[in-house]
Amino acid sequence: MPDVPIQIIRTASDIRHGILAARHSGKRIGLVPTMGALHEGHLSLVRAAQKVCEFVAVTIFVNPAQFGPNEDFDKYPRTIDEDLEALHELGVDVVFMPERDELYPKGFSTYVLPPAVADPLEGQYRPEHFRGVATIVLKLFNLLPADVAFFGQKDFQQCQVIRHMAEDLNVPTEIQVCPIIREPDGLAMSSRNRYLSPEDRVRAVALSQALDEAVRQVQGGTIESSAVAERMRDILLKAGVNKIDYAVVVDADTLGAIDQIDRPAVALIAVRLGSTRLIDNALLNAE
Ligand code: PAF
Repeated sequence: MPDVPIQIIRTASDIRHGILAARHSGKRIGLVPTMGALHEGHLSLVRAAQKVCEFVAVTIFVNPAQFGPNEDFDKYPRTIDEDLEALHELGVDVVFMPERDELYPKGFSTYVLPPAVADPLEGQYRPEHFRGVATIVLKLFNLLPADVAFFGQKDFQQCQVIRHMAEDLNVPTEIQVCPIIREPDGLAMSSRNRYLSPEDRVRAVALSQALDEAVRQVQGGTIESSAVAERMRDILLKAGVNKIDYAVVVDADTLGAIDQIDRPAVALIAVRLGSTRLIDNALLNAE
């Protein structure tokens, strides 16, 4: 563990100056945006950033703009001490941890209209969510002008929203998407897993089992997306996961519906277990 204390910055102007100074000293800058409650998935993003960047900044900010009125903003897990300890242990260069008013001051009223890829799936269940994500991520790109920003594939649609936004708005930061990190039984790591009751934690394994089966089916030659989706649904229902928001196979770039899996495609699942909403995904015919 480094013996200097971790550098924490709380204001927009300080972080911008800090990042620009690191850039001017010739360092390649990596950015890992998070909402805290860090787990191995987040830490894997930090490690990926440290592999290719000489200066790594992590942001911790529970972004109110991406939570709907009936969602879990107030009860979203906040574990700042543990988060800072883990980041310190990894030797992160700086943590940006602003207060809400620093990023959304009184009178704030400008939002990013997210790209079309935000419309289906999560967009249908969480109508303002990607507007909030696109807005905060663009703000972070402006405040922490990084060479590369790291996001987890677990939030597949979010990654596509950010990619399309960055391309459409000429954001110079490169977007790197890192693999999903799973528990030993296959459950994708998520800050929200801690809300699951012991019974639902057991049922939750069905998501990765359904996705594994989707991958197997496609590898075995099934090309009808509806057949793969139906099988995923069967596996979820058999495991007692019956509040299925969606279990679909769609085009991996646009997230539009496809009949045949004849292009890069992704299987995406969203379910509710008790009061917890879980999402997971698998690329089906990635090269
Ligand atoms: O994935 C997350 O944790 C958040 O959506 C992000 C990208 C940090 C924006 O608040």
